[in-house]
Amino acid sequence: MGDGVELQLKTPSDSPYVLETQAQLMSGELWKPLMEFRGSAGGARSFVDPYCADKESKFYRLRQILSKPPVEVSNFRLISQTGQAHELYYHWPAKAIVLLLTGKEIQNAVESAAELNRIRESYPSGDVITLVLSLSSPGEREEIAALVEGFPLELPVLQDTSHAVTRTLSSGFTPEALVVDPLTWSIQYRGPVQLTINQGTTEITLSPLSDAVADLLAQRPVSISRMVLPDTTLQVNPVKSGEYASDIAPILINNCFPCHTPGNIAPWAMTEYSVIAEYARLIKSAVLAGEMPPWHADPKYAHFSNSKSLTGDEISTLIDWIDRGTPRGGGRRSIG
Ligand code: HEC
Repeated sequence: MGDGVELQLKTPSDSPYVLETQAQLMSGELWKPLMEFRGSAGGARSFVDPYCADKESKFYRLRQILSKPPVEVSNFRLISQTGQAHELYYHWPAKAIVLLLTGKEIQNAVESAAELNRIRESYPSGDVITLVLSLSSPGEREEIAALVEGFPLELPVLQDTSHAVTRTLSSGFTPEALVVDPLTWSIQYRGPVQLTINQGTTEITLSPLSDAVADLLAQRPVSISRMVLPDTTLQVNPVKSGEYASDIAPILINNCFPCHTPGNIAPWAMTEYSVIAEYARLIKSAVLAGEMPPWHADPKYAHFSNSKSLTGDEISTLIDWIDRGTPRGGGRRSIG
C-alpha cells in the first residue's frame, strides 16, 4: 500500500459525520463513504486515506448525518468447526460481540486471530465475545478445523452454509469486522480489524475495531463507527430476487403451513400477505436461528426424509426478500 493523504476534518458539532470520496467531480457519480465518525463541537480529526496512492485525483466531502437509525442484527444460530451450535442472542449478557465475516478465505481469520484474542482478553471474561463467520459447506468442517487448529474455544469459526447470515450482515467487503451491542442488538462498528498506512517513512497501524470495543465498554458513543475497506468482492452466492407470489408464498406453504394455518398448533396463522409482512422481522430471526421450522439438526449428519427443513437457497431467498422490505409484487398469489 502506498502513501496515504492526510486530511484534517473540522467538525462544528457533536453529531455523526460521514467522510465521502469521488474520483472525479462529475455530476451523477456516487459519493462513496470512507468513514463515519462522531464529531466534536469545534474540534477536528485527522484522517489518513490509505486508498489514494494510485489515484491521479480524488475529491472528498464531509457531510453531517442528521439521523441514522441503528442497524439491528437478527438472531442466528450456526455450527462451529467443532460441531457446536452457537446462537448470537445467547450472548446477551456480554458487553460487546465482535463478528468477523471472513468470506470463503479462512486465512483472513488466521491473520486476525491474534488481534481478536487480544481484544477479548483485555476485558474480564465474558464481556467481549468473538465469533468468526465463514462461508463454507458442511463437508468442509474438518478442513476448517485443521486450518484453525490453534484457535481457542473462545474464537469459534462458525459455518454460514446458506450464506444468508453473511449476506444480511455484510456491506460487501471481506474480511469485515462488526461490533454488536447486545443491549440493543445494533451494529456499532463495521470495518477492518486493523489498517496499516505508510506515511513517508513511518508506518502507522490503526486499530479501529479495538477502539470501538473500548468505547462501547466504557459506555461512550463509538467514535469511529464505520471504516471502508479496499474494494473486494463479497463471495456470497448470488441470490435469486424472489417474488412474493411465485417464490416466497410457496416456501411458506411447503414449510410453515403444516402448523401456521388456522386451527393448527402454531399461535399465529399465515393467512395473508399483511400478516406475513407484519411478522417479517420475527420470521427472519426464527429462520436464521434455526428455530423455525422446528427441526433442529446438524445438516452434516441429518437427512430426515420427512423433515421440513429449509434448503440454503430457500433460506437465502426468504431472508433477502425480508431485507428488501417484503415487496408484494404482482402475480397470482396463493396466500392473500
Ligand atoms: C411443526 C410445526 C411448525 C412449523 C412447521 C413451523 N412453525 Fe413456526 N411456530 C410453531 C409453534 C408451535 C410456534 C410457537 C412456539 C414457539 O415460538 O416456539 C411457532 C412460532 C413461530 C414464530 C414466532 C416466534 C417468536 O419468537 O414469537 C415465527 C416467526 C414462526 N413460527 C415462523 C415460522 C416459519 C417462517 C415457518 C416455516 C419456515 C414455521 N414457523 C414453521 C410451529 C411451527
